[in-house]
Amino acid sequence: MSRFPTVRMRRLRRTAGLRRLVSESRLHPAQLLWPLFIKTSGAATPIPAMPGVSQHPLREAGDLAQRAADLGLGGVLLFGIPDRKDDAGSGAYDHRGVVQEAVRAMKRAAPDVVVVTDACLCEYTSHGHCGVLKGDRVDNDPTLDLLARTAVSQAEAGADVVAPSDMMDGRVAAIRRGLDAAGFSETVIMSYAAKYASAFYGPFREAAGSAPQSGDRRSYQMDPPNSDEALKEMALDLEEGADVVMVKPGLPCLDIIRRAKDRFGGPIAAYQVSGEYSMIKFAAEKGALDGQQAMWEATIALRRAGADIIITYAAPELVGKM
Ligand code: PBG
Repeated sequence: MSRFPTVRMRRLRRTAGLRRLVSESRLHPAQLLWPLFIKTSGAATPIPAMPGVSQHPLREAGDLAQRAADLGLGGVLLFGIPDRKDDAGSGAYDHRGVVQEAVRAMKRAAPDVVVVTDACLCEYTSHGHCGVLKGDRVDNDPTLDLLARTAVSQAEAGADVVAPSDMMDGRVAAIRRGLDAAGFSETVIMSYAAKYASAFYGPFREAAGSAPQSGDRRSYQMDPPNSDEALKEMALDLEEGADVVMVKPGLPCLDIIRRAKDRFGGPIAAYQVSGEYSMIKFAAEKGALDGQQAMWEATIALRRAGADIIITYAAPELVGKM
């Protein structure tokens, strides 16, 4: 049955021009969201577990937004590092909180850059969990109100998109209700809909100082063996009013991204998380692989799987590779 030598697959691989012409997936800067860690003051501090990534002080927020605009990036995703934490994570919904102030500065500096805010409590709670505790359990329903308050305070500051990453049940509906009641019916919700309890978040927890003081996140984040459950999570979030649904982590979940894209269409976001980023960086530092090439390959794989939006710490360096 072989039609060789009439059919030769290698013909279209012969030159860079031909490969580019028949490329089925492309990365465009406008599809990338660049995650940033913002602290209140001091100098920018490099994060040892994430080569090339730093915690930035608030006063650099405007310049960072301008840099995102100059690179043509789709937007930024902000995580706050507050000066103080408490049991109820009150820094998350403080109108003068670090993220709220960063949003204001960024929207002033570069109004067209989409500003997305992480709406979660774990960076602001003394115990490091994504909700309030009852004994040693994260208490779902009382957490919903605090998440809605967080989202409203971020929308008030000017966030275009709020991104709940806590994995409480019913949070998208609670946030949508809260935003609408406060007059922010136009604020977009990008939910971390299928978020797995992943070891690949390790470097992030160092970066954001958000490691749980006791226990882990397995009672709210998803169990890695499951896939039907991810689709159910995404369907529920869409029903509750999510505008964009996200799969996280990215590379370990290519199958989930593809199933989600086939089932729901877009927009689907994929998060290349801290551990995915850092393992490539560290391998490159050791000379084991070409870091730039590996980063591009890992990211285009997310596009090929079906992601419309890609969240990556490598956003600025990828722009040069497109
Ligand atoms: C907060 C949050 C986490 C990440 C994004 N939002 C950490 C976690 O759930 O433990 C991880 C991002 C990354 O690893 O790059 N809930």
